[in-house]
Amino acid sequence: MSKRKILPLEVIAARLAAMKRVGKTIVHCHGCFDLLHVGHIKHLQAAKRMGDALVVTVTPDKYVNKGLGRPAFTEDLRAESLASLECVDFVAIDRGPTAVEAIRIVRPDYYVKGQEFENLPRPPARLQAEIDAVGQVGGQIRFTHEAVFSSTALLNQRDVRGWDESAPTEERPTREDGGPPISPGGASSTTGPNQSAGACSEDARRFLDGFRSRHSVDEVLAGLAGLRDLRALVIGEAIIDEYRYCLPLGKSPKEAIVTTREVRRERHAGGALACANHVGGFCGEVHLVTCLGGNDSQERFVRDHLRPNVTPRFFVRPGAPTITKRRYMWEPFLVKMFEVACMDDTPLPSEVEHEMLDYLDGTLPAYDVVIVADYGHGFLSPRAAATLARRARFLAVNTQANAANLGFNLITKYPRVDYACIDEAEIRLAVGDRWSPVGTLADTLRGLRGCSAVSVTRGRHGALTCGEDGVWWEVPVLSGEVVDRMGAGDAYLAVTAPCVAAGMPLDMVGFVGGVAGALAVRIVGNRSPIEPADVHQLVTTVLR
Ligand SMILES: Nc1ncnc2c1ncn2[C@@H]1O[C@H](COP(=O)(O)OP(=O)(O)OP(=O)(O)O)[C@@H](O)[C@H]1O
Ligand SMILES: [Mg+2]
Repeated sequence: MSKRKILPLEVIAARLAAMKRVGKTIVHCHGCFDLLHVGHIKHLQAAKRMGDALVVTVTPDKYVNKGLGRPAFTEDLRAESLASLECVDFVAIDRGPTAVEAIRIVRPDYYVKGQEFENLPRPPARLQAEIDAVGQVGGQIRFTHEAVFSSTALLNQRDVRGWDESAPTEERPTREDGGPPISPGGASSTTGPNQSAGACSEDARRFLDGFRSRHSVDEVLAGLAGLRDLRALVIGEAIIDEYRYCLPLGKSPKEAIVTTREVRRERHAGGALACANHVGGFCGEVHLVTCLGGNDSQERFVRDHLRPNVTPRFFVRPGAPTITKRRYMWEPFLVKMFEVACMDDTPLPSEVEHEMLDYLDGTLPAYDVVIVADYGHGFLSPRAAATLARRARFLAVNTQANAANLGFNLITKYPRVDYACIDEAEIRLAVGDRWSPVGTLADTLRGLRGCSAVSVTRGRHGALTCGEDGVWWEVPVLSGEVVDRMGAGDAYLAVTAPCVAAGMPLDMVGFVGGVAGALAVRIVGNRSPIEPADVHQLVTTVLR
């Protein structure tokens, strides 16, 4: 019976047109609905109350872009579960990657999204196209205000429960006070078992309970919206991340090696390019100072992979390629087999460096925040670090320790740092201390470089942020869904640096960093930047 509701879009459109002629109001919702849950049901029921007929269109399998192994349910099953709901009148499996074509065919009076899409400072391009399409057919966009859940988090609960909760914690003066005690009647009970309750570790739940008692969703979203007016500069090495997916063929008869066959390739704009793209989602105007190779510069690719509000200024290293890190992946399991770095990481030729230092000298004071993504591949010398420290009004720095720089690239290269954002291994190398608690190291670094804030990212143990008041905010990871860890630290830096520059309270900075980290580990390498809409959605989800 309910399957009769599942029809081709054109058939549904004809029936809706007849209903409209007799004055009925048509409501349209669109989504992936991979694992239909109570959040979806409440959203659809609320949408139906806005009109007479509710049509739901479903993202087809080939356009579900939620990571490996998704969708968990085929488009037919997803449509069938929707059709079984009393509030749903018609279901169609869409054909395109967005709802735009479906909106043009359905011609709804109301196109309805969840509250997590409401009041975005700048709707993502896909949503904007949908809003435009609704306007063109004479309809309006509306929002429901029901509890927000996440299918992704729910689908990952099994993995999450497998977390190692025995991860070491530190003895520290952290502030988790003020939050209500964790109890079945606690903050989340009004909306039922929300996503955070299902997807978070005990530590995360405790942190979120405390955080909710100090800050509201609206405060966090207002803080993020305030970043729009900042002028940001990102500086660091451009890196092309290349993936070559291969199938092992077998052992060569003449060598002791396994031969592989390449099946596909993928390239991402990484390093400072990725950082600038992350920042570009939050700050209105982003400038990028970076280095390309004089040979095989890949400038076209680089330009094509920057957000429109990121303006690059390239300096060219003659006789070298643009830094390319080529990873050979074992295709079926997405495991890295080995990596080849194509680069010249000696110091920049002095004439190129002089040109860059002159440029920086003249332009740095104009920025509200200067974000350094220093990979230690020869672009930023101690002289450049000194210029940045002398001229930037607010300097945020990450210095990566990696296989190529062998721990020679330390944050202490910068005479002054306002916000240091580095991982645990990097801070231990920088302050030469292998065993002390991370918070103690952060205090030491703050003293050494006069930082107003330090964040130490700690992979699956989350991150710690501290400021001049000596309080350490320890934020556990907010999601257990990990597709790829690479680039998570860069995303953390890029999203938190403008927050610190804008004067956001440091516990909120730590929370926003945790949200950025949770989203970054869902993205394969630097395939795409962190989208503000996803940040808004996760903020809303975990704080409700
Ligand atoms: N295994 C994980 N599980 C959950 N979250 C993670 C995991 N690894 C990283 N994260 C998230 O990403 C944030 C930053 O990651 P991490 O500490 O690994 O940075 P990093 O070592 O600088 O990484 P990279 O240099 O590759 O960008 C963490 O604070 C956390 O929020
Ligand atoms: Mg890092």
